[in-house]
Amino acid sequence: MATTPIDSRGTWNTKLGFVLAAAGSAVGLGNIWRFPTVMAENGGAAFLFIYVLLVFVIGYPVMVAELSIGRRTKKNPVGAFKALSSNKLFTLVGFWCVLCGVAILSFYVIIAGWTISYFFEQVFHYLGYFSLAEWVSNIENGWLNTAVAILFMSITISIILGGISQGIEKAVRFLMPLLVIIILILIVYVMFQPGAGAGVREYLVPDFSVINMELILAAMGQAFFSLSLGMGALITYGSYLNKRENIPEAAGYVTGFDVGIAFLAGMLIMPTIYMAQAEGLIIYDEAGSLVAGPALIFQVLPELFHEMGGLIGLIFGGTFFLLLTIAALTSSISLLEVPTSYVIDEHKVPRKKAALLIGGFITIISIFIAFDTSLIDDIDFIFSVVGLPLGGFLICIFLAYFWKTENAKLELAQGFENIDTNLFWPVWKVFIKYICPILIILILVSTIYSIF
Ligand code: TRP
Repeated sequence: MATTPIDSRGTWNTKLGFVLAAAGSAVGLGNIWRFPTVMAENGGAAFLFIYVLLVFVIGYPVMVAELSIGRRTKKNPVGAFKALSSNKLFTLVGFWCVLCGVAILSFYVIIAGWTISYFFEQVFHYLGYFSLAEWVSNIENGWLNTAVAILFMSITISIILGGISQGIEKAVRFLMPLLVIIILILIVYVMFQPGAGAGVREYLVPDFSVINMELILAAMGQAFFSLSLGMGALITYGSYLNKRENIPEAAGYVTGFDVGIAFLAGMLIMPTIYMAQAEGLIIYDEAGSLVAGPALIFQVLPELFHEMGGLIGLIFGGTFFLLLTIAALTSSISLLEVPTSYVIDEHKVPRKKAALLIGGFITIISIFIAFDTSLIDDIDFIFSVVGLPLGGFLICIFLAYFWKTENAKLELAQGFENIDTNLFWPVWKVFIKYICPILIILILVSTIYSIF
């Protein structure tokens, strides 16, 4: 069902195109690298439980909020807040959104670069060039990190240059289904391996005694990060959304798809961690914290693929890291699209120049991280764990008390005719006005209070 664009800004060509693009933004390193790592740090199944709860209680309502603000204004976050309220404070909130996008993308390209490095590691290992394989997998090598990050950023920029339906939509329509198929094949393989059962139990049988405020904050940060919420990425994506689409329904698909993929990724990686441990790899130190930190999956998985050996190892290892690069790409384009559309809309810079300028600037920041990867945890904490929920809180407040829920209803009603009689409306209204902002602020404040 192709539709003609409403204005020169461009829209998604099809509903599936939008859902795939938003799901592509959601599904990324957050699901496959960040989720298993944070879960392994926070006691397995109990974390999964709190995470899923927060996705539906906070994440889904905020996603509907972002999409409706975006479609109403057809603007980037800064322009959107300006358009709907004369309160200057929210222009600052818009800038905070853009800043979070820049900061998160600056470390995202480093991790994404590692997925490229490890793809080559698998190839060199198979070909028997062991010293080359070892060299390319050294993630402390600043120059190497810089090179692969630049490579990844260049691909991201080139997709952004293509604009909305030609660039982003075309790419994800092909890449997303491929991703799901490869994950499923890998899970089936891992399930038949010895030792996988212990990992599955750790993943699915919760020990609720490990739940504390820090775990809850980590789960909230993960929910925002994974759904791409709290920095206006979905305000921006919503701005390209056709008035005929049903926003709550589309948001439901995206949320369900993202949680589904995170769940599958856990199903693949938790058993793999246990298998690697059974093989003698040290995962936790004596204090019980992860030895590998952000590098967890890059330490555990290549070993697994080498164990498989031969061509099978290469096929699984190669496709796995290729899959990760692809997933990262459909997410990084949404991170770059936020600051880019800000510069296009608010400063009237042509798309090409804007994308190159912002992409180049972020690459320069990422070079510092390439040479000191310990920065990743700090930037991630400030901008993902604290920054995104803070942004989400402000978006709820903005919608409920400045733009007003009745105006949001008018927007949501387009594409959703029976909104008046549907249970969605009264429930969502209460969540956006009270439950979401109160929960977010309670979790943020009480955790930060308990840390200091
Ligand atoms: N959600 C993506 C992931 O899981 C990362 C991402 C893309 C993101 N766009 C975002 C995170 C916007 C926060 C905000 O990998």
